[in-house]
Amino acid sequence: MSARTRPITTTAGTRPFAFSEAALAECKAIMARYPEGRSKSALLPILHIAQSENDGWLSVNAMDAVAHVMGLQHIEVYEVASFYSMYNLHPVGTYVLDVCRTTPCMLRGSDDLIAHLEKKLGVHVGETTKDGMFTLKGVECLGSCGTAPMLQCGATFHEDLTIERADALIDELRARNSRTNYTDR
Ligand code: FES
Repeated sequence: MSARTRPITTTAGTRPFAFSEAALAECKAIMARYPEGRSKSALLPILHIAQSENDGWLSVNAMDAVAHVMGLQHIEVYEVASFYSMYNLHPVGTYVLDVCRTTPCMLRGSDDLIAHLEKKLGVHVGETTKDGMFTLKGVECLGSCGTAPMLQCGATFHEDLTIERADALIDELRARNSRTNYTDR
């Protein structure tokens, strides 16, 4: 997780967003887990659902739909979505590579890992490859320090990474070519 520096995308030119019926039912079921008046606690999982329904990122339209479904002010949704690195506020590739760069991972080579991935993919951190396959991100501690260095892709942690294992992962993901989300089970 980390604070962001890029602004939230505006609605201009963005496509409309609407939850699918199944996603809407899931949102309502999650909200029902909380006592009356406390359903705001469901915001994080519902943002994940919205993101997975919108090609892996949260447009303003998607966040506004979350606000509508939950009965929240738009700003209440924006401020949460813009705080956590697991929410993408701009279009992303098929795979988002969240590479941890906090101290334990850094001491175990995350700087070299990121530099290698930047070179291999031809992008800088924060960018998406020209073929739309990979978005490379640097994130703060993901709670897997004992298996550093590591990265998260969708719901999966890839741990004890070496340059060779990272290369194998990229090859495997490229061959699979199927979007991953944080909500995948
Ligand atoms: S420092 Fe990388 S997972 Fe904790």
